[in-house]
Amino acid sequence: MEVVIGAPDALARLAADAVQRLLEGTPRPVLGLATGSSPLAVYDELARRHAEEGLSLAHARGFLLDEYVGLPPGHAEGYRAVIERELVSRVDLDPAAVRGPNGSADDVPAACAAYERAIVEAGGVDLQLLGIGTDGHVGFNEPGSSLASRTRIKTLTRQTRVDNARFFGGDVDAVPTHCLTQGLATIMSARHLVLLATGRGKAEAVHQLVEGAVSALWPGTVLQLHPRVTVLVDDAAASRLQLTDYYRQTYAGKPAWQGI
Ligand code: F6R
Repeated sequence: MEVVIGAPDALARLAADAVQRLLEGTPRPVLGLATGSSPLAVYDELARRHAEEGLSLAHARGFLLDEYVGLPPGHAEGYRAVIERELVSRVDLDPAAVRGPNGSADDVPAACAAYERAIVEAGGVDLQLLGIGTDGHVGFNEPGSSLASRTRIKTLTRQTRVDNARFFGGDVDAVPTHCLTQGLATIMSARHLVLLATGRGKAEAVHQLVEGAVSALWPGTVLQLHPRVTVLVDDAAASRLQLTDYYRQTYAGKPAWQGI
């Protein structure tokens, strides 16, 4: 697990560099797309590179991490609508090449199984962008999630609904109670995981993720078992890490050609 501590704009550029390298070096790259606040600066940077430097995502495909259950179709905070707004509409990514779990499905288990199959048929996710919840969730795999889980329905914790109320006019009751989410094993199948976290509110979750014991209580800790994880954190999110000096020293001494 590589930990990079830096300013939020520099972290977003590093993540965008990794996406760009993938886009330029792979005929049919598959991106794993997170929503929420954490990846927004990365999407801004990709949109800027598309507009100003000709970066193309036309040959890429995308899979969303998760989707709310119970929002009316087309709701502005549904993750399908969010990714259209924040990324797809700003670059040349084909909207038809971006899929998410179907939060309106009548047959939820069948929809989840179909989503798993679609990811496998696309060849798997090359680079998965991730955020982390203050309670340690990745995707919407809340504490207690099986470390071997696949795409399924989950109940959101009260904490997650409080955290996400800012997207629903501050009204926690407007935040759906359920979601469909890629499971932890689904996420672990991606070839490179790039997790972004900023702000003091994420400090304990980041500490557990990187340095805690692997446990369903802090679902993100399963990432310690993945061979290629990059954790991009600002000073505030890094503030509870124990080995901060070592992470800084390691990254400072890294050959530039390695990237993240
Ligand atoms: C979003 C997702 C969640 C968020 C997490 C952090 O698709 O899967 O795990 O990454 O809730 O959210 P933000 O980035 O809004 O703090």
